[in-house]
Amino acid sequence: MAFIALGVTGGIGAYKAVEIARGLQKNGHEVMAIMTRAATQFVGPLTFEAITRREVITDQWKSGANADIEHISLASTIDLLVVAPATANAVGKFANGLADDFLSSLFIATRAPVLLAPAMNTNMFEHPAVVKNLETLMARGVQIVDPGSGYLACGWIGKGRLAEPEDVVAAAEQVLRATPIGERGTLAGRRILVTAGPTYEDIDPVRFVGNRSSGRMGFALAIEAARRGAAVTLVTGPTRLAAPPGVAVVAIRSAADMHAAVMSRVAEQDALIMAAAVADYTLAGPSAQKVKKQDGDLTLTLTRTKDILGEVGRLPSRTQGLPVLVGFAAETHDVVNYAKGKLEKKRADLIVANDVSRADAGFDVDTNAVSLVSASGVEDVPLQSKAAVAGRILDRVEQLLLAVPARNAAAKA
Ligand code: CTP
Repeated sequence: MAFIALGVTGGIGAYKAVEIARGLQKNGHEVMAIMTRAATQFVGPLTFEAITRREVITDQWKSGANADIEHISLASTIDLLVVAPATANAVGKFANGLADDFLSSLFIATRAPVLLAPAMNTNMFEHPAVVKNLETLMARGVQIVDPGSGYLACGWIGKGRLAEPEDVVAAAEQVLRATPIGERGTLAGRRILVTAGPTYEDIDPVRFVGNRSSGRMGFALAIEAARRGAAVTLVTGPTRLAAPPGVAVVAIRSAADMHAAVMSRVAEQDALIMAAAVADYTLAGPSAQKVKKQDGDLTLTLTRTKDILGEVGRLPSRTQGLPVLVGFAAETHDVVNYAKGKLEKKRADLIVANDVSRADAGFDVDTNAVSLVSASGVEDVPLQSKAAVAGRILDRVEQLLLAVPARNAAAKA
């Protein structure tokens, strides 16, 4: 399975892109449609949404679309970008590096292979500017599915009609075969489990004790590990984030759920990255019915939860270094010292220490600044996007994995 971004630009052939989306899906791929504003004049985004069962991106500036700098996060997750139909305008923008909407920004940001299916009037297709632009793109490795000849919507007969959907799908398969999934990345053949988000400990059916974790750091780690070719399982508490494509997501609620989800999978994992903010305490006896208010104070009795990281650290396989174990330490003071204590106490290989008293790092923001604390010392990672911090953490995980054999050499993303 591959994750494919399908760019649809404003040509009459846009309706055929619906068939292309279906064809790619029938072959087992996940498809995310990105429509330019002009494309929405030809086909409604709802059609693509219904077919792909995913949100359709139609606007660079929609509120929320930039919370994770979406064109960058999508750019690093996709296995292939197909643009069909690609208008003369789109081809011109791609060839000249213009990035004034989501699709053209994605084109520049991605390192995934790109397949264009141009479609336009014959004279436009043969215009020296378009010919030059297509040549420039081909010289940069962009693959082209030639338009067909025949009766064009404008009444002309000639070359320029969008290639048939099955030909575009076949070309996409060919491009994907040239870069097989799971054999590209530096983490190919490795299984990595990431935990993310908060846990909710229920007081009664309507109330819970939670924390401010948004899940962003864990999701960024899962996305980056998948991009590097690992088979990733993401065990996540309740968050508002969309499931990252190509990642097996296990949604849990409480610390006890997370414990069960992690412990039942740990034996297959090459690495475990515990970015979740797991509750240390849970309700001694959650009420099956809503607790009614009374005069006076209410006392809740909390009991300790199981320390998942600590338990994994003591597994017999850890004497062979498996799984590589990364924990997080969210602190408000004395960050590195506490992290050093945690490294020893939890028998982890690496502790990622966050100073959550900073407004620009830690909970519910897109940036983070951390210290990577291991037996070999402390590495400071200055403030940057959580995606970039994820890259630095995974660089360290890759180094640690060099010392241990893959648990399942055949693991595929
Ligand atoms: N963790 C865990 N299981 C728990 C609690 C925490 O696996 N029940 C993991 C977190 O995912 C994180 C690390 O342990 O990787 C955090 O360590 P912990 O000592 O629990 O952190 P705090 O509770 O924040 O620290 P403190 O002991 O200072 O309260």
